[in-house]
Amino acid sequence: MKSLHARHRAVLPDWLALYYDEPIEITHGEGRHVWDAEGRRYLDFFGGILTTMTAHALPEVTKAVAEQAGRIVHSSTLYLNRPMVELAERIATLSGIPDARVFFTTSGTEANETALLLATAYRRSHQILAMRNSYHGRSFSTVGVTGNRAWSPTGLSPLQTLYVHGAVRTRGPFAGLTDERFTEAAVADLEDLLGHTHRTAALIAEPVQGVGGFTSPPDGLYAAFRRVLDRHGVLWISDEVQTGWGRTGDHFWGWQAHDQAGPPDMLTFAKGIGNGMSIGGVVARAEIMNCLDANSISTFGGSPVTMAAGLANLGYLLDHDLQGNARRVGGLLIERVRAAAAGVDAVREVRGRGLMIGIELADPDTGRAAPEAASAVLEAARAGGLLIGKGGGHDTSALRVAPPLSLTVAEAEEGAEILEQALRSI
Ligand SMILES: Cc1ncc(COP(=O)(O)O)c(C=O)c1O
Repeated sequence: MKSLHARHRAVLPDWLALYYDEPIEITHGEGRHVWDAEGRRYLDFFGGILTTMTAHALPEVTKAVAEQAGRIVHSSTLYLNRPMVELAERIATLSGIPDARVFFTTSGTEANETALLLATAYRRSHQILAMRNSYHGRSFSTVGVTGNRAWSPTGLSPLQTLYVHGAVRTRGPFAGLTDERFTEAAVADLEDLLGHTHRTAALIAEPVQGVGGFTSPPDGLYAAFRRVLDRHGVLWISDEVQTGWGRTGDHFWGWQAHDQAGPPDMLTFAKGIGNGMSIGGVVARAEIMNCLDANSISTFGGSPVTMAAGLANLGYLLDHDLQGNARRVGGLLIERVRAAAAGVDAVREVRGRGLMIGIELADPDTGRAAPEAASAVLEAARAGGLLIGKGGGHDTSALRVAPPLSLTVAEAEEGAEILEQALRSI
């Protein structure tokens, strides 16, 4: 009998990346822990790519899903759908976007597709600004605004994309500048770029880049960008697929670290809101959302079961102030990780906020990115009973630590210890 790994390799695409030399089959989870098919228990500090946002097997979500599934699983957007309307109402209010409309999809990719469709239709332009080192999804349009070669398999695109500086502090021409000088330089670059281009539809940006290795600009940079974009009529789309719902601790949305110039025109979300059920979506001002002059549906978007999960999950998150927990426990965790990394030459930077912590590794002699070291730490952490993630730009040399937002202090301490051993093992 072939192993599940061999069967996976034989039947699924080669480009479907798997973690670990010996990949893990996760069979069940509870709270912040998961178990593999051999019965080994792991502390989960990646949550299936920041998607198990509150906790594994959260009883409130499981119950809501089971009850809704027992009533009706599917009806489509052709019929009124109470849980969809209720979740849209809550998200519209939470979004901070005035006169907000919400459209549900089944993934972050499809949410960004929708935002790009809206922006290009509204502005009658297919020119998009995106950040270098960004990731916005796997579809044809979204890989066309993904400024990370490792995740963008084609240069062909329905969009004309120009990549802007501003999200990466540790490399590139603006590396080493103070926050103020960095922002000034990035704004000057944007001004210059817009002076040379035709009508531009929108800027799409992640407040903290996820796949890019949890890198972010100085607070306020997107507000400074916004003032320039406004002068040119260019829309701002905040991709909150990883940063939404309080993950960054200080804010409910990532854009709020840049709120001096008001909310974005659109925000996109996915991952954590369904705690694993497939929910994505876009929030936009009504004027933008309603600019399409043809019908549209989403067969699965807003399906009653996923919406029931989203409502239960969001209710739990707000009732238990998981944003506050992300701030408090995340603050402790980043301190512990910094202390753990202090004596390790290969660590170039520990960064992040809330429960979104990146550890960038580089060769201490050459300063070059060290993807092998990142893989070695990932393996060592797994051997120690801790699951974390990887990310980064030109090379995958950043470790990503992003536990469910209900993480306890004891679990944070335990995970930091395992991480310290793993870092010291390289
Ligand atoms: C910032 C960001 N946008 C969009 C996506 C795409 O979401 P999905 O994988 O649900 O299509 C991701 C996925 O990692 C993401 O991190």
